Amino acid sequence: MKLKIALSVFTLFPFFGALVYGQNLNNTRQKEQLNQGWKFYKYQADETPDNLIYDVRPEVNEYKDNIPADSKPTDAVKVQADKSVLKSWILPSGNDFIKDPAKRYLRPVGNPGEQFPFVQKSFDDSTWESVQLPHDWAIKGPFYEGWDTEIGGGMGRLPVQGVAWYRNKISIPQSDKGKRIYLDVDGAMSYAMVWVNGKLAGGWPFGYTSWSLDITPYLDFGKENQIAIRLDNPANSSRWYPGAGLYRNVWLTKVAPVHVKTWGTFVTSKNISAKSANVNLNIELLNQSPQKQIVSISTEIFQLGKQGEKLQKVASDKAVSKSLDANTSTVVKTSLDIQNPKLWKVLPQDGQNLYIAVTQVKSGNQLVDIYETKFGIRDLHFDAKKGVIVNGEKVYIKGVNQHHDLGALGGAFNQKAARRQLELLKEMGCNAIRMAHNPPAPELLDLTDEMGFLVIDEIYDSWEKKKTPLDFHLIFPDWYEQDLRALIRRDRNHPSVIMWSYGNEVGEQYTEQEGTELSRKLNAIVKDEDTTRPTTVSMNYAKPNMPFSGVTDVINLNYQGEGIRNGAGYEGLKGITTPPLYTAFHDKYPDKMIISSENAATLSSRGEYLFPVTNLSSAPAKDGSGADPKTMQVSAYELYSVEFGSSADKVFAATEQHPFVAGGFVWSGWDYLGEPTPYYLARSSYFGIIDLAGFKKDRFYQYQAHWRPDFPMVHILPHWTWPERTGLTTPVHVLTSGDEVELFLNGKSLGKKRKGQYEYRLRWDDVKYEAGELKAIAYKNGKIWSENSVKTAGNATKLVLKSEDKTIRSDGEDLTFITVQVSDNNGIMVPKAKNRIRFSIEGPGEIVATDNGDPTDLTSFAAYQRNAFNGLCLVIVKAQQDKTGVLKIKAEADGLISGEIPIKISN
Ligand code: GAL
Repeated sequence: MKLKIALSVFTLFPFFGALVYGQNLNNTRQKEQLNQGWKFYKYQADETPDNLIYDVRPEVNEYKDNIPADSKPTDAVKVQADKSVLKSWILPSGNDFIKDPAKRYLRPVGNPGEQFPFVQKSFDDSTWESVQLPHDWAIKGPFYEGWDTEIGGGMGRLPVQGVAWYRNKISIPQSDKGKRIYLDVDGAMSYAMVWVNGKLAGGWPFGYTSWSLDITPYLDFGKENQIAIRLDNPANSSRWYPGAGLYRNVWLTKVAPVHVKTWGTFVTSKNISAKSANVNLNIELLNQSPQKQIVSISTEIFQLGKQGEKLQKVASDKAVSKSLDANTSTVVKTSLDIQNPKLWKVLPQDGQNLYIAVTQVKSGNQLVDIYETKFGIRDLHFDAKKGVIVNGEKVYIKGVNQHHDLGALGGAFNQKAARRQLELLKEMGCNAIRMAHNPPAPELLDLTDEMGFLVIDEIYDSWEKKKTPLDFHLIFPDWYEQDLRALIRRDRNHPSVIMWSYGNEVGEQYTEQEGTELSRKLNAIVKDEDTTRPTTVSMNYAKPNMPFSGVTDVINLNYQGEGIRNGAGYEGLKGITTPPLYTAFHDKYPDKMIISSENAATLSSRGEYLFPVTNLSSAPAKDGSGADPKTMQVSAYELYSVEFGSSADKVFAATEQHPFVAGGFVWSGWDYLGEPTPYYLARSSYFGIIDLAGFKKDRFYQYQAHWRPDFPMVHILPHWTWPERTGLTTPVHVLTSGDEVELFLNGKSLGKKRKGQYEYRLRWDDVKYEAGELKAIAYKNGKIWSENSVKTAGNATKLVLKSEDKTIRSDGEDLTFITVQVSDNNGIMVPKAKNRIRFSIEGPGEIVATDNGDPTDLTSFAAYQRNAFNGLCLVIVKAQQDKTGVLKIKAEADGLISGEIPIKISN
């Protein structure tokens, strides 16, 4: 096992070695990454897994996961509990998050599973696969094809289901004796149960929660120790691709018996002005020693640099003394003033300012813990008429919904890939993310802090009522309090997080009192943890006159604001139908802010233009109208939506007509794995503004035009290579941040058009195709603002590679993304090219995955061969750990000149 020390005081103070502030640090906190050295085994389809199950699950018979997303959730099925399940040993792991001591769980006697070979030190796992975390066991496929498959389109057609084991050996030196040692898991999908040296230490069923186990009692100090983690990820358990495995970082944290609890600090600020800010810290201290301890606590605050380094000290407090009885905890409160605070800012402002509070705990004279809390200072207000106000300025929410997967990398968290998603969204003008519908990897919130996105942190897609037969409604009754409190404690110091959402379109919306009561209970838990941020749940059904809609601080509406299955083109569709409801909600709740937490659900496949084109500004995608059942692609004219959705045009108009709406979140920013509405046989969604590979769809420019009105741009669609359409009507639509556009075809003006009120594209619907060049000149206030053109491509002749980085680090995590374009002689992309591309790599690195953004492509993401999709293909590359040199990535295709690109490796 190789341990990497991250975030520890040693890396932050390299020159001081183990001595800081004249203190010996050997006894203070160490947080070590435990991502290397894992062995992995998954039961094959023909094997019967062990019966070390968390709980009995209902049988699933006739279930199909292609039902519409807004179908009514149903009641849970009752099952007979079985005495031999391990649930009673796992429930105590959540005790820290149960407020009422009487409701905490006692560990039963006995040690289930101890005879099972996989948990034993002596078990020989040398034939098991060696893996590095974060690891998603399903992402390489193969994809399931067809209608009646174990995992269908809904969950992304990848083999997420089943039981698997991870094992790792950790050496714990004798010198650690006396410390408490925690295993910190940022996320395990799902139903994790942990054995240490053959003893069942605990676990956590909900796959999206971060959790921590005190494994000290089970460790052998001065020896090698065996960790074994069992996961059991059910089929029929999600409406999207959940990923599978230890898919986020895992850590070992070593602390003295007296220490700050995991996520034990809460920083809030008040009286914020340019001159000063008052920062308050609650610090939860734990004494796990058998004696009473007199401890003293002090905190210093530093400005945080871009690389995470501490800059100048801006405040410090006087040490406070506390007496702590054996095995008790206490909350110490402190208050510090910061002069001339540098406030945290929201995009598009740059230079997000962050601080770090460094809390020292001494027991007697001995420094026993140093706990660091990153935070930001910002003044937040929520106004029913004005919306979100940050540092005194209104910030209109230009948001998107994001699922947790990273496309071809699956659920396995990777910071570079996550940053790439955010960078593109930022370029589009997006300033907010809704974490749909579950807690993200903690590092994603570090990125949103650093980049300046506002975040709605969300936890559940279902409560007691279910959306799929084995979703997390099964554990909700036992775990809702623990999961909810864990989320808030983990994420409450992130300045980017502005709101807690504890539900998305839950079935309880459909009940009157019962669902309202449950919502109140959840709301009270959130308030008990944090009163500085508002609560919300997203509603696609509950109406203003239903008690359910009045529980939370903020009204989050999914699709209801614009109206559901409402307006020209949408009449007569079956399902929830709702007139536009912004005004009705505003009238009923005049003091509550309203957000459009989900809107649009527009569908499209990048580069697929289908004819004829609707003359409406929004229409449902149907076979033969905006969608092609033969190719399973949806038109990229960006006018077609799911039945309950709308085009961006319709959403923009509806929100502009209701200026009290604080803004909204598009469904969805990027395409994601699973939920391939309207073509169930596909693997990934059509909802994204950006496709699964990270290539921009035309819609990107529609949002950019609207969200960045000061950024000069104009974009033309479709592409202009239609040899089979010569003389045929081929509508041309232009997206611009200007107000007027003149369009030219082969130098001939097709007229100048001006955007009317509530118009968000300019349409030349009668253009007869002729090869050549289409050019758009955009104007703003009568002056030329931006120009762009599209040209007819010739035959494909070559592959052109472009990398997002010239150099990558060999730290085992860094990646780069290389786009391969099928080009004609002049370097113009051949827009319908589907050439088979073969990839190879030379040098100390590997091709991690390939993709092309085609939702219907069932080629494994691990394949080195893939068809281009409409001219483009993506290859993701990584360097071997600790190596240097140069990688050469080559792309070849029959009949085309191959392309090659070098990538330098640094360490
Ligand atoms: C919503 C749901 C999302 C997604 C979306 C598009 O109803 O909240 O999770 O399913 O529809 O289908």
